[in-house]
Amino acid sequence: MRETLERIKNEALEALAQSDAQIEDLRIKYLGKKGELTAVLRGMGSLSAEERPVIGQLANEVRAAIENKITELSQTAKQKALDEKLKSEKIDVTVPGEKVKIGHVHPLDLAQKQLEDIFLGMGYTIVDGPEVEYDYYNFQALNIPEDHPARDTQDTFYITDKILLRSQTSPVQARVMEKTQPPIKIISPGRVYRSDAVDATHSPLFHQLEGLVVDEGITMGDLKGTLELFAKRMFGDETKIRFRPHHFPFTEPSAEVDVSCFMCGGEGCRFCKHEGWIEILGAGMVHPNVLRNCGIDPEKYSGFAFGLGIERIALLKYHIDDMRLLYENDIRFLNQF
Ligand code: PHE
Repeated sequence: MRETLERIKNEALEALAQSDAQIEDLRIKYLGKKGELTAVLRGMGSLSAEERPVIGQLANEVRAAIENKITELSQTAKQKALDEKLKSEKIDVTVPGEKVKIGHVHPLDLAQKQLEDIFLGMGYTIVDGPEVEYDYYNFQALNIPEDHPARDTQDTFYITDKILLRSQTSPVQARVMEKTQPPIKIISPGRVYRSDAVDATHSPLFHQLEGLVVDEGITMGDLKGTLELFAKRMFGDETKIRFRPHHFPFTEPSAEVDVSCFMCGGEGCRFCKHEGWIEILGAGMVHPNVLRNCGIDPEKYSGFAFGLGIERIALLKYHIDDMRLLYENDIRFLNQF
C-alpha cells in the first residue's frame, strides 16, 4: 500500500508538472470520490492496527502534497490570466485626454448683445415680433400700400397673399404702437428675410435691429443725439455720424446714417473704400400716417425710428470681409472671436 501511495503521489505530481496539465481533471482523477487515492483509503480497513496509522498518515501527506500542488498551480494560472488581462487592457494614463470642444458666442450674437446692451443702457426695452408676419404689418401699416414701388426693394417670401416672412423688423413698430400709447422706447432685434441671392454682402436670411421712440415733443435732434451716442459706444469715442437724405415710406424726413471710418478716422482708407464714411443704418421721424394707422395721434405725439443690419455691424466690427462666413459654422473661423 505504501508503494501504491508513493506511486500515486509521484504520478500525480508529475502529471501536474506538465505544462498543459488539466488541473481540474487531475484533481478528480486523484482526489475525487472515485479517485485513486480515495480507493486506497477505502482499502485501509484491511490493514493491521499498527500499519493503519502509519499508512493513514502517509495517505494524508500524499493528499496534502497533491492538494498543495493543485492550489499552487491554480493560483499561478489565475495570476497569469490576470496579468494577461492587465496587459491587454493597459491604459496609458499619461496619454492626453480628448478635449471636450466647448462652443462659444457667435460673432453675430456678440454684435447683437453689444447693440442690445448699448440701448438697454439708454432705457430701451427689448421687444420680440413674429418672423412669419402679415402683409399688413410688414407693409401696409408702415405706409407701403399694395403696388407701392418700395415693395420691390424688399421682395420677400410669401406664404399666402396676406402672410409673408417679414422683410424688415419695422413691423414690430406697428405692433407695439397698436397696443401701447406713448411713451414708447423699444428696440426689436431679430431675423428678417428677403428674396436675395447669396453673395459676400447678401443673404436671404439676415438680422436687423429696429429702434422706436414715440412721445410728446420728440424731434430729429433726439434721433441725432441717440445715434451719435450709439455710434460712439459701438465704434469708439472719436466716431462722428453723418445724415444723408433718403426715402423710407414709414419715416419723414428719412436719412441714411454713416459713421466716420473707425479704421482711418475719416481720412479715407481701403476699409471705407476711401470715403472716410461707412453707411450703417436707416432712420427718420415716424411718418404721421404710420402713427395714425396704429392709433396714435400725430398731432400730439411724434417719434423717431431707426433700423440697422446686425450682420453689417458684425462684419465692420470684427473686420470680416464675407457675410457667408457668419453662416458656415466653420469652427476655425468661429474660434477667432
Ligand atoms: N426697415 C428699414 C430697412 O429695412 C430700415 C429703417 C428702419 C429705416 C426704421 C428707417 C426707420 O431698410
